[in-house]
Amino acid sequence: MKLIYEGKSKKVYDIGDGKVFLEFKDEVTAFNAQFKAEFKGKGYYCFKISSLLFKLLKDNGIPTHFIEEDTNGFKAYMVRIIPVEVVVRNIATGSIVKRLGINKGYEFNPPLVEYFYKSDELGDPLVCKSHIIRFGWMREEEIDRVESLALEATYILTDFFSKKSLKLVDIKYEFGYTEDGRLVIADEISPDTFRVWTSEGESLDKDVFRNTQRDITEVYKRLHEILSS
Ligand SMILES: Nc1ncnc2c1ncn2[C@@H]1O[C@H](COP(=O)(O)OP(=O)(O)OP(=O)(O)O)[C@@H](O)[C@H]1O
Ligand SMILES: [Mg+2]
Repeated sequence: MKLIYEGKSKKVYDIGDGKVFLEFKDEVTAFNAQFKAEFKGKGYYCFKISSLLFKLLKDNGIPTHFIEEDTNGFKAYMVRIIPVEVVVRNIATGSIVKRLGINKGYEFNPPLVEYFYKSDELGDPLVCKSHIIRFGWMREEEIDRVESLALEATYILTDFFSKKSLKLVDIKYEFGYTEDGRLVIADEISPDTFRVWTSEGESLDKDVFRNTQRDITEVYKRLHEILSS
């Protein structure tokens, strides 16, 4: 296995044949790496939750990079990542509350889609469709396809969560093209990349770390138990 990339929360290995192994690390960062910590077992739960949700999406006909689980990570199709993160919001919280003064808890119906340019140096800034097209990150038809896949995936996940008495608040997707040219949802789908509230309004995601810097492994473990029960 050849390590081709090490990010803040995962290692990416080239395993040949147009495939990668994504290994989940125990490190967690928040607010563009202003806060950093390592919690034993955190990576394991992000891996297990990601695998479970990628399987759910696959079973519902959504194209993803996921192939199969392995130890502390999963095999996936290697993709060329599109440098735009797609955020779908069901409920207002986090950056949109600060940026636009919308009340926390405001419900978006239909969900709101936002785009962010993937750049750590710039702090992943919010961008418009005109930027995406003008700077060549995606063509207009690609944006439409990405947006409809992100919305479809979010409906499936929101419905699944609501059956577990959980509210999917918002979620970040990364998209990419496989070697054979298929557009798929890539990266991870975990409490590091979505927000989820219990019916009592308790967070079971990285907001616990953002707000308190405390160990989130138990929280992620509890979420995994609920989702897999
Ligand atoms: N199937 C895939 N093939 C190739 N690269 C992938 C695939 N899925 C995810 N990636 C990329 O692998 C990296 C995973 O590492 P990690 O999530 O730790 O990165 P990060 O620190 O969040 O940094 P960034 O996302 O800004 O590069 C990301 O850059 C992600 O875009
Ligand atoms: Mg990442």
